[in-house]
Formats: sequence, C-alpha cells, structure tokens
Amino acid sequence: MNLSIKNVSHTYDIEVINDLNIDLQNYHSIAMIGVSGSGKSTLLRLLAGLETPTEGTLTVNGRDVSLSDHRRSIGMVFQTHSLFPHLTLKENITLVLEKTRGIAQEKASAIADENLDRLSLADQGHKLPQNVSGGQAQRASIARALSIDPEIIFLDEPTASLDPILTDEVLSGIEKLKTSGKDFIFVSHVLSFVRDFADYVIYMDKGKIVEHGTPDILDAPKSSSLKNFMSKVR
Ligand SMILES: Nc1ncnc2c1ncn2[C@@H]1O[C@H](COP(=O)(O)OP(=O)(O)OP(=O)(O)O)[C@@H](O)[C@H]1O
Ligand SMILES: [Mg+2]
Repeated sequence: MNLSIKNVSHTYDIEVINDLNIDLQNYHSIAMIGVSGSGKSTLLRLLAGLETPTEGTLTVNGRDVSLSDHRRSIGMVFQTHSLFPHLTLKENITLVLEKTRGIAQEKASAIADENLDRLSLADQGHKLPQNVSGGQAQRASIARALSIDPEIIFLDEPTASLDPILTDEVLSGIEKLKTSGKDFIFVSHVLSFVRDFADYVIYMDKGKIVEHGTPDILDAPKSSSLKNFMSKVR
C-alpha cells in the first residue's frame, strides 16, 4: 500500500497529533507503536477516515481518506470485538455482506464459511458471541473484516482484552493472513508480533512520529525516546 500524511494535526480539547508528515510506498503491513496516549489510535482513526483531521491531508493508495470509496475499501478490528451480541458468529458476517454489500444469501453464506475457516472457526459459526472465548470472538471480528474483501485491514490492539494464551491464538490467526494479499495497518504492544508481522514500524510519542523505519529500528533505536520505550517493554 501507499500512504501519505501531510501536515496532519488533530486537536480534541488539546492537540494530540502534532504536524505529522510521512510518505510510505509499497509496504504491506505497517505497525504503530508507542506508550499509552501517544496518539496511535487517533492516527489509525484518521487513516481509516473515521475522523477528520483538524489540519492536513491523509492519502491511502492515492485516495483521500475522507472519500467514501476509501471507507468501503477497508476493514476494521478494534480492541474488543464489536460483534452483534444477538447474532451468531456466522450471521455477524452474512448480515454485513447482505445489508451493506448487497450480496445474495447463498454467496454470503459461502464467503462467511470460507473466512471463518481461515480463522480456524469452522465449527463455531453457529454460536453466539457470548458462548465463545474472547479469542474466538476476536477472530470472528477478523473474519468479518476479511469477508468484505477490503484492500486494507486496520487493527487497533486486537489482543488488548485477552489473556496471553488467547493473545497468542489471535496473533497466530493474523500471521496466517500474511499471504492473503491484504495489507495491514495495526497498533500492537506485542513487539515479537510487530517484528514478525510488520514490514514498517512507526514509533509515536506525544502526538509525533519520533522514529520510523523497517522493524530493525526496534533493535537499534536512534532516539532516546525509542531507546527508553524499548528498555521498558518486552
Ligand atoms: N475522543 C476523544 N476526545 C478527547 N480526547 C481524546 C479522544 N480520543 C483520544 N483523546 C486523547 O488523545 C490522546 C491520544 O489518544 P490515543 O487514543 O490516540 O492514544 P493511544 O496511543 O492509542 O493510547 P493507548 O495505547 O492507551 O490506546 C490522549 O491524550 C487521549 O486522552
Ligand atoms: Mg489506542
């Protein structure tokens, strides 16, 4: 994917994103890391077009992110699963396909089965979210995001609400998607996963991009800020 951020600032009551500029071409999996409150989720939401920056422009694959075409070309996965509680895992997928994409029932069912299977949930599709583990529910959210056949999948700390075993299960599920032909923009605190899955890393601190580069920057940080961050996380 190609990504261009020009003079982007974003203010809520205070400025939380401060004059970001970056141009990236032909990366497939971009990670955002940094301490809590550094602006990772805000930048992810800006890139997804869910929020409009106070200043500046963001372009993904040559399209301004404020265009509805962009919004339709991405899938989103958040910290906690956002499945409809009264629908089974499979219905959560088929409903989206039928209602928002106008896909016929039979085709929607086939797409749902294929993507549940991809996330090792072939035998769980008939269950309600409350009757599966947190890891399974989160994998179903990922299957749903994949089902709309997006160009890019955005993941904001998809394992934040999970214990270490379920975290591993979800991250392994995501790693298997490396060969899916999809691109990813994600936030994760699990640095081993960032190293394995990302081909580019953006390190943020206090609303700024302080360091960025291939995952090697994690092993040889230049700024004192990233050095400090790396010494505190595992
Ligand atoms: N909707 C909002 N209204 C007001 N302030 C907000 C809002 N969303 C985020 N903020 C503030 O913006 C700053 C950046 O928040 P953001 O959620 O982007 O950080 P983050 O890096 O994702 O942190 P975390 O690792 O805890 O998820 C924080 O100071 C936060 O309190
Ligand atoms: Mg966040």
